[in-house]
Amino acid sequence: MIKNVGIVGAGQMGCGIAQVSAVSGYKVHIYDISADRIEAGLATINGNLARQVSSGKMTDEERKKALSLIKGSADLNDLSPMDLVIEAATEDETVKRKIYGQVCPVLKADAILATNTSSLSITRLASATDRPERFMGIHFMNPVPVMKLVELVRGIATEEGTFSSAKQFVTALDKTITVAEDFPAFIVNRILLPMINEAIYTLYEGVGSVEAIDTAMKLGANHPMGPLQLADFIGLDTCLSIMQVLHDGLADSKYRPCPLLVKYVEAGWLGRKSGRGFYDYR
Ligand code: CAA
Repeated sequence: MIKNVGIVGAGQMGCGIAQVSAVSGYKVHIYDISADRIEAGLATINGNLARQVSSGKMTDEERKKALSLIKGSADLNDLSPMDLVIEAATEDETVKRKIYGQVCPVLKADAILATNTSSLSITRLASATDRPERFMGIHFMNPVPVMKLVELVRGIATEEGTFSSAKQFVTALDKTITVAEDFPAFIVNRILLPMINEAIYTLYEGVGSVEAIDTAMKLGANHPMGPLQLADFIGLDTCLSIMQVLHDGLADSKYRPCPLLVKYVEAGWLGRKSGRGFYDYR
């Protein structure tokens, strides 16, 4: 029975998961090594909930209740009472493995540990924990409060009880589940990221400008955002790491990351979060 939910990482995904969990009545604790990031994340959640009150989607009472359920700290020990901990750290296997090494000794023996990885092998990540049978992928989409889908991914050792608890939790958040097998980038990103990479090749080869490519896909294919705008929104570093996982894991040149994507990441142009990507946000 999941009542207390821990989140590791106060970035846009971690805070989004914290928000929807608290709105659904779960007690949430956000852990991050940076107290500043936690504070910024809580401020974002506050702003999102206030917007929902002004647009009439939530009462002020509900907003206050949700906020009262969310705490945050830079102290790992605060994760010890959690029934489910969702790791939403950066998309880097070394970082995630290090986090599991620190988090696992603090957790209750029967706690479930899940990862919000968007591409990495669940089975391989599970091997860095002390509980592969109580480990799995719970992959939310960005922005979490708006996107309906959550992908659930079992590793080779994931027990059925772990999967059904996660399914119950995600259903309680009013999200729709798709089950994906443990292949590189699962379903959504296996399809979405090559499309974004192709849009970057389209720019790289001079087929169209940034605006032309995004307008073409918004008005010509009815996408809510153009692929380059979406890449900036996801983060170009995340896009590159997902393409690398696809390229390495499936060994097919069709997944080769576009050199322009590599160059932007090397320049520190990571999209919206760094102020510059295919668009300028400064
Ligand atoms: N956080 C919370 N809420 C947000 C938000 C955010 N970052 N951005 C927008 N919203 C909310 C707005 O408050 C608004 O809510 P109300 O209807 O209650 O007012 C609603 O979403 C619509 O927002 P807007 O009218 O401002 O803008 P929009 O209609 O252009 O929609 C969008 C914004 C929902 C982000 C839309 O552009 C969209 O769907 N884009 C595509 C998103 C997408 O493809 N996400 C998947 C990324 S891939 C992924 O996540 C997987 C991965 O692992 C990388």
